[in-house]
Amino acid sequence: MDKRFYVTSPIYYVNDVPHIGHAYSTIICDVLARGARLRGAKTYFLTGTDEHGQKIEQAAKDRGDEPLAFANRISAEFKALWDYFGISYDRFLRTTDSDHVQGVQKAFEKMFASGDIYKGEFEGNYCVSCETFWTSTQLLEGGACPDCGKPTSVLKEENYFFRLSKYQERLLEWYESGDDVILPRSRKNEVVRFVREGLDDLSITRTNFEWGIKLPKSVNDSKHVIYVWLDALMNYATALGWGADEKLMEFWPASVHVIGKDILRFHAIYWPAFLMSLNLPLPKCVAAHGWWTKDGAKMSKSKGNVISPKEVADSYGYEQFRYFLLRDVPFGQDGDYAQKAFIDRINSDLANDLGNLLSRLLGMSKKYFNNSIKTGQLQLFENERKETDGIIAQLNTLFDTLQFHRYLEELFKIFSIANKLINDFKPWEKIKKNEFASVSEMLVFIANVLAKGALLLAPIMPKKAEQIARAIGISIDVKTLERLIVRGEWNISYDLTDSPVLFARIEKPAAVESEAVSAIEINDQISIDDFLKTEIKVGTIVDVKEVEKSDSLLVLRIDLGETEPRQIVSGIRRFYDRGSLMGLQVCVVSNLKSANIMGIKSDGMILAAADQSGLKLIKTEGLMANGARVR
Ligand code: ME8
Repeated sequence: MDKRFYVTSPIYYVNDVPHIGHAYSTIICDVLARGARLRGAKTYFLTGTDEHGQKIEQAAKDRGDEPLAFANRISAEFKALWDYFGISYDRFLRTTDSDHVQGVQKAFEKMFASGDIYKGEFEGNYCVSCETFWTSTQLLEGGACPDCGKPTSVLKEENYFFRLSKYQERLLEWYESGDDVILPRSRKNEVVRFVREGLDDLSITRTNFEWGIKLPKSVNDSKHVIYVWLDALMNYATALGWGADEKLMEFWPASVHVIGKDILRFHAIYWPAFLMSLNLPLPKCVAAHGWWTKDGAKMSKSKGNVISPKEVADSYGYEQFRYFLLRDVPFGQDGDYAQKAFIDRINSDLANDLGNLLSRLLGMSKKYFNNSIKTGQLQLFENERKETDGIIAQLNTLFDTLQFHRYLEELFKIFSIANKLINDFKPWEKIKKNEFASVSEMLVFIANVLAKGALLLAPIMPKKAEQIARAIGISIDVKTLERLIVRGEWNISYDLTDSPVLFARIEKPAAVESEAVSAIEINDQISIDDFLKTEIKVGTIVDVKEVEKSDSLLVLRIDLGETEPRQIVSGIRRFYDRGSLMGLQVCVVSNLKSANIMGIKSDGMILAAADQSGLKLIKTEGLMANGARVR
């Protein structure tokens, strides 16, 4: 890891209040920043709000507000939420901040002076929602925007242009300059393909609205405001004082820009080209995460299924929420927020595997050794120690390449090793035979696992890690990390203190058991065409497996008359066992988008009905051919 670490989140548009997607971006940055600080890097973490542009002007107008007053209000909501969550940002930048405005004007001035910005005439199809021009070949049927699907309008105006085309070759060279320039690596190809097709110069000013940064005085053209994406992207540099006092520019270039996959093009094409034009070094990594859906559906205000991160955190615990977001979905892939999967994670990984391990350690240490466990040296459990060391050795790379789901999956294996050791070693039997020394050695091993685990969990669950650390008497700091993780030492003594329960188990509300069925709120009537969009087919269950660590999920393979049986994850384990399901014909929604449930791909949904008495699968009245459509 570099001595300096600079991480940025996207700056959020103030036309929407914070939701789970925003929280996801910000939490990933917080995890990276905490990880870097713990490893001793001088760290700067930037977040903020994106407040200019036609979209915001319009949103303010719709509410009868002035744009700035409106932006003040929503920006404060974002800041308040991050503060409530204890997000460890160093600056919350607003694009209406005066140093940012000054920096953006300076950037425009420099690009204009060097000839990278020129004046021309532009006609194009403009999407207000995405603040983007599209060529007619890019538009969807009926002229809709290819990104958001909303209608575009034809806009003709005198514009200033940025010579994006000039940077095509240098951009392609940059993509090839390292493996991790764009993460996940699979996304790089997408960008390379787009750039290879050729880049048009980019219209960089607007005249059809006023809520934006004015052109610098030296250019002297008051009709125009600066395009919101030039304004927004510049925040990563102006936050460090670029164009003003430059005092934090030691942090440049950014170590990682964390963004959502929808804004990759802006960050992987426009932004590096702007930087090249300004003679600034390029970021080391642009990392694009996937999108969150709710029960397989896109979140939207009109569907009423937008998840409030604060509500979830208040109900289930904020750090449990962080764990779920990072553990359940591989970075870069879309994820589905299902309450059931979340509760399963809390109960199995957190309460069972980790929380229980701590209480077993504390319980036995108190009972047998009055809270103080010591050995002259560690002799026993060499295999377990080696295995633990081996797992820990891979973790840095997983963390640095943002593979948090794998990082946590691997990390939790060390808790499994410790839990298994207790079960196999049966210390309670040894104590009966007065074999105190070996039991104390086993407890020292467990305490080491928890000490190492707490240090490695600290970026993701800082308060819980502190709680573990306090209970076993270590500190979470650079020195301890150096000793127990980097050098891989094993402590030979611990003084323990009682601790409250680390993670409470969560009782699943009855409705959650059949969440897939009950989560759909039916507000409006639908047409037959709407209904027919749902493809329901008859299929035979040909294989059933239980999902480890879940008491509600089964993985089924269902023959739908296709070339291969479909894999479907279903929350019916409480109601059906393997034997009663094999060979059963059921009804399946077969054109549902793939979902990732506890890391397992699911391609469809089995239909069931639920009431107070429980849950029953939907079947046809008699046997049918697999693949027969239900209408
Ligand atoms: O794009 N799941 O702002 P924004 C995951 N202002 N991520 C989601 C999401 C979801 N359901 N919905 C949104 C902007 N996001 C610009 C950024 S940066 C110089 C300017 C993510 O508020 C989305 O992918 O529309 C994006 O990265 C971020 O939230 C901000 O979106």
